[in-house]
Amino acid sequence: MTDSRGREAELLRLERQYSSWGDTVHYLDPPKFFERAEGNYLYDREGTPYLDLQMWYSAASFGYANRRLNDALVGQLNRLPQLASQYLHRERVELAAAIGRLNASKFGAEGRVHFNVGGSQAIEDSLKIVRNATGKTLVFAFMGGYHGRTLAASAITSSYRYRRRYGHFADRAHFVPFPYCFRCPYDKKKEDCGMYCLQQFEKNFDTEYNSFWDPKAGESEFAAFYVEPVQGTGGYVIPPRDYFPGLKRILDERHILMVDDEIQMGFFRAGKLWSIENFGVSPDIVVFGKALTNGLNPLSGIWAREDLISPDVFPPGSTHSTFSSNTLGTAVALEVMHLVAERDYEAITTQKGAYFLTQLQALQRRFPRVIGDVDGLGLALRVEICGPDGHTPDRALTDRMFAAGLGGDLDAHGRSMGLVLDVGGYHKNTFTLAPAFDITHEEIDLAVELLEQLIRRCAPDRV
Ligand SMILES: Cc1ncc(COP(=O)(O)O)c(C=O)c1O
Repeated sequence: MTDSRGREAELLRLERQYSSWGDTVHYLDPPKFFERAEGNYLYDREGTPYLDLQMWYSAASFGYANRRLNDALVGQLNRLPQLASQYLHRERVELAAAIGRLNASKFGAEGRVHFNVGGSQAIEDSLKIVRNATGKTLVFAFMGGYHGRTLAASAITSSYRYRRRYGHFADRAHFVPFPYCFRCPYDKKKEDCGMYCLQQFEKNFDTEYNSFWDPKAGESEFAAFYVEPVQGTGGYVIPPRDYFPGLKRILDERHILMVDDEIQMGFFRAGKLWSIENFGVSPDIVVFGKALTNGLNPLSGIWAREDLISPDVFPPGSTHSTFSSNTLGTAVALEVMHLVAERDYEAITTQKGAYFLTQLQALQRRFPRVIGDVDGLGLALRVEICGPDGHTPDRALTDRMFAAGLGGDLDAHGRSMGLVLDVGGYHKNTFTLAPAFDITHEEIDLAVELLEQLIRRCAPDRV
């Protein structure tokens, strides 16, 4: 044990000296090492389990070391581990066809699919499709939205902190308030607001002098609206059911495309294959990644309507990347598609999510001076940590609870355990819970018990 502790200390010294940290943030000092992952759990060097309610930001939704998906990867590794993307392999074609067919049935539109390696890259691809189809560069996106960290993805991600150091972003999105009803940007009440936020957005098109619209030409300067139907990094914010249908109508009437970023919420995180399905809206473009391969070999992708992406209008090679349709990623992703065709993940995530939400609501009732808001859609759940007034964001307490969860010394019925949480939200005071889909009711109960221990430990004066 002392030996492994010594090795870890040496690794930390090396990491401090040689890693740039440009690709990571250490939320804990010192940062945490893990040795093993299985199912819903990460394990540290002492073998202590950590119940994971983050699952790699929803990339590993089907569970760590999922046997069936790992086997698909190993099978491909032994058969066709590498292949230049100018050649075809079966899995790539079947995967595109599976997603294309599903979307045709869901959205009533034929379309095509292509692949890339990460979410941000697929977002970049979608921006090219939008620009190519419209000849315009300006887009709308939401405040609190997150679309990635490459240059173009940063331009449509709301946080200024991500752009601050990199000069002028000429194609920076116009950011629109998201219907975040617990903290309404217009200080309205959900019960009687009459969807004021949508009305305000539509007003932009009232006259040419509002700078968005030329009524004579019947044309907007804006090409598309980038949406996360349920905000991910923004804090698992769930909009009212009729917001997106209203938004789509406004966009359709102005010939503005809707690009649906499903990178975090796609693949049943929010109870449906695509989270937008919860709102009965058909987007023009869908971007996906993360759980597509259960976090195994990187793969992301984009689906667009035929008229936007057909090779006749979007020339071959427009978004080529060496690793874009890699054999390992496409093999796992195809197995994911088979898995979701066989098991009813809509029912699984909806039913378990409803149970989890009920338990969280009870937790909020027990600790109203700590938890300001809980909500959930499918297995995307949020717990907003607030001051005693139930509303003022309490980031310091959120950070303490996050760190204590990673201490690994909570009591799971006599056994030491840790809790892996993810902190998100506009005020960094929200636990965004994304448990594995195989989580059991007993583990949901355990998760809530561990959260309660964290509250009692970190906010003893408020319990
Ligand atoms: C909604 C959303 N879009 C885009 C991205 C960027 O994806 P990647 O980190 O794979 O580049 C993320 C990543 O968290 C995301 O949650």
